[in-house]
Amino acid sequence: HGTMRINSKGHLEIGGCDTVALAKKFGTPLYVIDEELLRQNCRAFYNGFKRDYPGNEVIYASKAFMTMAICKIIEEENLGLDVVSGGELYTALKAGFPPEKIYFHGNNKSREELIMALENDIGKIIVDNWHELNMLNELARKMNKVPNIYIRVSPGIEAHTHQYVKTGQIDSKFGFPLFNGDAMRAIEYALTLKNVNLVGLHSHIGSQIFDSYSYKAEIEIMMNFIKLIKEFLGWEVEELDLGGGFGIAYTEEDDPQPIEKIAHEMMQSVKEYSVSLNVKMPKIIVEPGRSIIGNAGTTLYTVGAIKEIPGIRKYVAVDGGMSDNIRTALYGAKYEAIVANKARLPRVEKVSIAGKLCESGDMLIWDILLPEIEEGDILAVLSTGAYNYSMASNYNRLPRPAAVLVSNGQADVIVERETYEDLVRKDVIPERLLSVKR
Ligand code: LLP
Repeated sequence: HGTMRINSKGHLEIGGCDTVALAKKFGTPLYVIDEELLRQNCRAFYNGFKRDYPGNEVIYASKAFMTMAICKIIEEENLGLDVVSGGELYTALKAGFPPEKIYFHGNNKSREELIMALENDIGKIIVDNWHELNMLNELARKMNKVPNIYIRVSPGIEAHTHQYVKTGQIDSKFGFPLFNGDAMRAIEYALTLKNVNLVGLHSHIGSQIFDSYSYKAEIEIMMNFIKLIKEFLGWEVEELDLGGGFGIAYTEEDDPQPIEKIAHEMMQSVKEYSVSLNVKMPKIIVEPGRSIIGNAGTTLYTVGAIKEIPGIRKYVAVDGGMSDNIRTALYGAKYEAIVANKARLPRVEKVSIAGKLCESGDMLIWDILLPEIEEGDILAVLSTGAYNYSMASNYNRLPRPAAVLVSNGQADVIVERETYEDLVRKDVIPERLLSVKR
């Protein structure tokens, strides 16, 4: 996918760069980001949601993968940014991202984070709960500001790929529940507050959603709620943020529909409800994370120890693992992989890819067919762009990998590899331990 191809040496190439050469030059593990595919993904969302509806916004959920360079690309592609912490907000501002296109999420924003958002006049603050609503109004009053806000509604459905389930409705840490009247009360109350400007509603139903079916269920619920708000409070909702969750194909088991098609069906549905319910057509906001960056990322590893338990399993260990990709261990996620220096060779043996960290659950791929593999081979694990680097840790004191952006044969470092020195940089030895007594 993207700019991936096999070059004349039989090596995997991304963005015109030989991945075996990348591994040699930058070391492994290495995150490789295909700039062209990243931009294509941005454009698919832009074309699907915004081209025909200029009032709409597509905001990249930066939790999926955020660095300052990525912020630059997102800005250039005319998308907004969804941040969920002071750290993400800081990164965006440092990268010069336009504050008015930043949307601030989170179910427990601190006082300091809200002050930072207010000081920088960011676009929208998505208010999650009563505590935050009151705190924000109070802080804004003191700072003489009136931030634009959305109320986050917990719509009571949860999507899993193409299914959705009603979740007993109220049991979620996020948002004001719809079905016990809390969301309506919050909106009524927010409209009375002087230092917040309520402009819209937000909801988010899940992740890895492959078609418009679950989104239409969400749209039905939210548009009916908008109708109720109009009847009860006389307030017309201007903006409706439907969250993220658009799925990608990690393996051939996954079959997501093209984003333009999903977008078209969602916008059609919003239109129909606004006509049939006789409410103003709201501007639509979506928050894709994984579907923007997921398939644009590949992780390169070097193969080390290989251990065969005859008749049972062949473990192929690489020089990273759950510290750079925790998704297999945490969610049972599945990945596809290619031996980068043997990209054209037939896949002849079933192996399992293990990490190098000290626990048995540290596996990257269970049971994959690969060409005959040996120490020193470069293994490329595909579609690791989302929630790999962003969820990386220093477990076992492994330095976090570097990330390079590749395009047209050029590779630029966008995150430097951590060093051992970085690992101890924040360590402090208290005075009384400095002269250790033996
Ligand atoms: N908006 C909200 C309010 C969210 O909570 C999320 C994801 C998104 C947007 C972006 O969702 P996406 O389009 O990326 O699916 N660590 C997990 C995923 C957690 C998603 C949390 N919220 C994983 O690795 O699969």
